[in-house]
Amino acid sequence: MGRSTYPSRGGTAPMAEQAFDPKQTKILMVDDLPSNLQTLSDLLTAYGYINVQARDGQTALNLVQADLPDLILLDIYMPGMDGYEVCRRLKADERTKHIPVVFISALSDIDNVVKAFEAGGADYIVKPFQFREVLARVVSQLTLVRQRREIETLRAQDRQHFESLQRMKDQFIRMATHDLRNPLNVILGYANIIERLNISDPDLSLRNEAVENIRDSVEKMRSLVSDLLDFAQFETGTYLTLAPVLLSQFIDKCLNRLHVVAVQKNIELAYTALAEAVTINVDETYMARAIDNLVSNAIKYTPAGGRVEVQIERTDQQVCIRVADTGLGIPEEDLPHIFDPFYRVRYAGHEQVEGSGLGLSIVKTVVEQHHGQVMVESRPGKGSTFRVTLPVVLTVPQVPAPQ
Ligand SMILES: Nc1ncnc2c1ncn2[C@@H]1O[C@H](COP(=O)(O)OP(=O)(O)OP(=O)(O)O)[C@@H](O)[C@H]1O
Ligand SMILES: [Mg+2]
Repeated sequence: MGRSTYPSRGGTAPMAEQAFDPKQTKILMVDDLPSNLQTLSDLLTAYGYINVQARDGQTALNLVQADLPDLILLDIYMPGMDGYEVCRRLKADERTKHIPVVFISALSDIDNVVKAFEAGGADYIVKPFQFREVLARVVSQLTLVRQRREIETLRAQDRQHFESLQRMKDQFIRMATHDLRNPLNVILGYANIIERLNISDPDLSLRNEAVENIRDSVEKMRSLVSDLLDFAQFETGTYLTLAPVLLSQFIDKCLNRLHVVAVQKNIELAYTALAEAVTINVDETYMARAIDNLVSNAIKYTPAGGRVEVQIERTDQQVCIRVADTGLGIPEEDLPHIFDPFYRVRYAGHEQVEGSGLGLSIVKTVVEQHHGQVMVESRPGKGSTFRVTLPVVLTVPQVPAPQ
């Protein structure tokens, strides 16, 4: 070791060393000579690395299995198992094959160097070594480790994203084939019936029934197509046109159509507006669609005789639009998914209700684009409460101009 130079503790660590934290980096050193281990340990400790020592190959393998190091500095000639064999075993094991092994050996002839790389070594340092060289090679291997981990994380994210797109595509196809084909078949069937009707027959009941069913199917398709268009538009990025509106009046307008739907289903729809005039900034078309989806759901998933309540509450800088129903409720395991596109609850009562599973995903996107949040609480058999919170536009009191 006589020729080795030891950098001062205050010396600057190589540039790339800044890219990871030595205190979180564990290096295993394997050498049968305690003095070699001590020298390396002093060097690595001076630079803040966690280091662990082994004096033979088998102990090294046991230590690796117990707690995976980030890097291994490995001597070649040791009693018992030599460094080549240790390296081969590490590379043959799925758990340990990615740990870089840097050989440190007095053997400088080309055959040994080549053999070390053939055994799976990542680098080779000849003893006696220069401290700066050891540090530089350690840093370069650890940088590669960090880059590999970053790439793995990105790949895992990409895989997840791809799988979720794949799931969405499958759900879309299932939904489109069922929900678009069914009403089309109904329309075609009744069109055939009308064609065969005797136009001079004074009994119009069959014709009226056919027209009513065709209109009903067209309405279903219209609603589905407009949901799909909203959804597609948000997927490709939509710009909202925000304008200030008076909240209580806006909600009142949203509920207009829904009062009729509630009455038809014998559901009580109650609305408690705010006493004070509060202004919010919204894109009226999209926010109306979100409120419509929430209240339509409350009516759809509440059996006749139930109650739906829409209430506005105000906290300091926010308003909360609360839509509560006494309906079917949602099982706890479904709650994290109901805002996913095309997700539908498969629970007693829900399957009988028609829908595409797009409504709540549109609600969530619209609300979040307004810098708001949507939350849900629900108990199966008891009912559900959805809360939309939105920021309030704070009106600055006008200061009269000085006389
Ligand atoms: N108020 C509610 N009470 C009970 N279940 C609800 C309620 N709102 C939503 N759900 C459940 O969450 C699922 C997703 O709702 P979402 O509005 O996204 O879709 P949908 O109502 O099935 O179809 P769409 O709204 O697109 O016509 C529904 O299938 C339903 O099971
Ligand atoms: Mg819905």
